[in-house]
Amino acid sequence: MLSVHNRPPKIQAIAKQEFREGVRVNVSVLEALKPLRKSALLGIIGIVGIVVGLKINAAYSTHLKPVQPIEFSHRIHAGENQIECLYCHSSADRSPSAGVPSVAKCVGCHERIATVRDSAEIAKLNAYWQAQEPIPWIKVHDVPDFVHFTHKRHVLAGLECQQCHGPVETMDRIERVADLTMPWCTDCHTLNQTDNGLDCYTCHK
Ligand code: HEC
Ligand code: HEC
Ligand code: HEC
Ligand code: HEC
Ligand code: HEC
Repeated sequence: MLSVHNRPPKIQAIAKQEFREGVRVNVSVLEALKPLRKSALLGIIGIVGIVVGLKINAAYSTHLKPVQPIEFSHRIHAGENQIECLYCHSSADRSPSAGVPSVAKCVGCHERIATVRDSAEIAKLNAYWQAQEPIPWIKVHDVPDFVHFTHKRHVLAGLECQQCHGPVETMDRIERVADLTMPWCTDCHTLNQTDNGLDCYTCHK
C-alpha cells in the first residue's frame, strides 16, 4: 500500500497540507489520485476482459486435442488401413455410448503385424497388456450427466460419425471439432425436423 512517504511529491504535499489543516486526508488523497485511478481502472478492465475472454474461450473452444497415453492414429487405422469405425467402436449402433476398444482387441491384431513390432508405442501397448490394465485414454467428447444422448438412435437414423466428429480418418491425434452445446444439438434437430427434437424432456429427463 502507498504510505504518505512513497507517494509522488505532489500528492505528498497535498496530503501533508490537508493533514495540517485537519481535513479528512483520505478523501483529498483519492481526489489527487484521480488521474492515476483512471489508468488503474482501465488496467483492471483490461485484465478482467482477458480473464473473461480466456474463460469463454475455454468453455466454448471447438478444438480439444489432448496428448493420449499412446500415440494412437486414426489416420493410420481408419484412413490408410480402412478399418471400420464400428469394428473398434462396436457399441455405437447398439447402445448409448460408442465404446473404446479393449487392449485385447489392439493386441489381437498387432500380434500379427510385423512392420511396427519394435515401435516404442507398440511397446507401451504390450506393457498395458502384460499388466492386464486398460489404457487410460483421455476422453475428448463429454456431455454433462444431466443431458441424455444416445449413439444408437443417431447412428441408426443414418447419420455419419463424421457429421458430429469431423474427418476422424485424417486425424493423427483425435480432436473435438464440435462444441457440444445445446444449440449444436437443437440446430441439427431443427434441420432434420426431428420428432420432439426441441422438447426439453427429450434431452433432459
Ligand atoms: C485390425 C488391426 C489393428 C487393430 C485392431 C489395431 N491396430 Fe494399430 N496398427 C495396425 C496397422 C495395420 C498399423 C500400421 C502398420 C504399418 O505402418 O506397417 C498399425 C499401427 C499402429 C501404431 C503405429 C506404430 C508406429 O510406431 O508406427 C500404433 C501405436 C498402434 N497401431 C496402436 C494400436 C492400438 C493402441 C490399438 C488398439 C486401440 C490398435 N493399434 C489396434 C492395425 C491394427
Ligand atoms: C483400430 C481401432 C479404431 C478404429 C478403426 C477407429 N477408432 Fe476411434 N478410437 C479408437 C481409440 C483407441 C480411441 C481412444 C484414443 C484416442 O482418443 O485416440 C478412439 C477415439 C475416438 C474418438 C474420441 C473419443 C472421445 O474420447 O471422445 C472418436 C470420436 C472416434 N474415435 C471416432 C472414430 C471414427 C469416426 C472412426 C472411423 C472413421 C474411428 N474412430 C475408428 C480406436 C479406433
Ligand atoms: C449426432 C452426433 C453424433 C454422431 C452421429 C456420432 N457421435 Fe460419437 N459422440 C457424440 C457425442 C455428443 C459424444 C459425447 C457423449 C457423451 O458424453 O455421453 C460422443 C462420444 C463418442 C465417443 C467417446 C466414447 C463414448 O462412447 O462416448 C466415441 C468413441 C464416439 N463418439 C464415436 C463415434 C462413432 C464411431 C460414430 C459413428 C459410428 C459416432 N460417434 C457418431 C456425438 C455423435
Ligand atoms: C448432426 C445432427 C444431430 C446432432 C448434432 C444431434 N442430433 Fe439428436 N437427433 C438427430 C436426428 C436426425 C434424430 C432422429 C433420430 C430418429 O429419427 O430416430 C435425433 C434424435 C435424438 C434423440 C431422440 C429423440 C426422441 O424423440 O427420443 C435424442 C434424445 C437426441 N437426438 C439428443 C441429442 C443431443 C443431446 C445432442 C447434442 C449433444 C444431439 N442429439 C445432437 C440429429 C442430431
Ligand atoms: C437436443 C438436446 C437438447 C434439448 C432439446 C434441450 N437441451 Fe438443454 N442442454 C443440452 C445440452 C447438450 C446441454 C449442455 C450444454 C453445455 O454444457 O454447454 C444443455 C444444457 C442446459 C442447461 C444448463 C445450462 C448451463 O449453463 O449449465 C439448461 C438450464 C437447459 N439445458 C435447459 C433446457 C430447456 C429449458 C430446454 C427446453 C426449452 C432444453 N434445455 C432443451 C441439450 C438440449
